[in-house]
Amino acid sequence: MTDPLHTFQTWLDDAKRHGVPEPATMALATVDENNHPAVRMLLLKHADQQGFVFYTNTDSPKAADLRHCPHAALCFYWNPPGRQVRVTGRVEPVTNEEADAYFNSRPYLSRIGARVSKQSQPLDGYAELERSIAAEMIRHPRGRVPRPANWSGYRLVHETIELWQECPFRLHERRFYTRHGNKWSEQSLYP
Ligand SMILES: Cc1cc2nc3c(=O)[nH]c(=O)nc-3n(C[C@H](O)[C@H](O)[C@H](O)COP(=O)(O)O)c2cc1C
Repeated sequence: MTDPLHTFQTWLDDAKRHGVPEPATMALATVDENNHPAVRMLLLKHADQQGFVFYTNTDSPKAADLRHCPHAALCFYWNPPGRQVRVTGRVEPVTNEEADAYFNSRPYLSRIGARVSKQSQPLDGYAELERSIAAEMIRHPRGRVPRPANWSGYRLVHETIELWQECPFRLHERRFYTRHGNKWSEQSLYP
């Protein structure tokens, strides 16, 4: 049986070839302490056998959700070629070394922005953000901008993957994979 992660990589490449804008964009669903769900778009940094990695502010609502419930779901959709991938699994923080390496690869202003953003907290107008950015640029002129303690990454370690392929007359093909250690079981699903 083909590893569903391998198919995911092939489908992601296909989406790029089809010119899908931002094919690495995915929805991340989490659950808060009241068992209320939340979903938002994020960028997938990379996916491999270890899991699906994304970066964010660790003081954000999504990070609070993940501390409360370290299980989450991802959803990708690419059209054309009419494909959806759903992933579930346990979420764990990446290492400081991984987070530093990615942070240091980001453009200067993205690093400055990550330092000043109090993600999802109320903002008294855009001018307040611009003032914080200007002040941070003076504190850290071009060159080394340290990764803030509240910016890092998470890895969703995939436990299930569903591959959905659009077919005529809504008779879509769905294959649902469950991981058992290093092996996968496969189940077809009604559309
Ligand atoms: C296409 C797209 C990509 C995004 N990528 C990220 C990302 O990689 N990391 C991030 O923290 N927020 C990203 N965002 C913003 C999030 O959707 C969200 O607004 C923010 O993370 C706050 O979420 P929270 O309040 O649920 O924590 C992205 C938004 C869009 C529309």
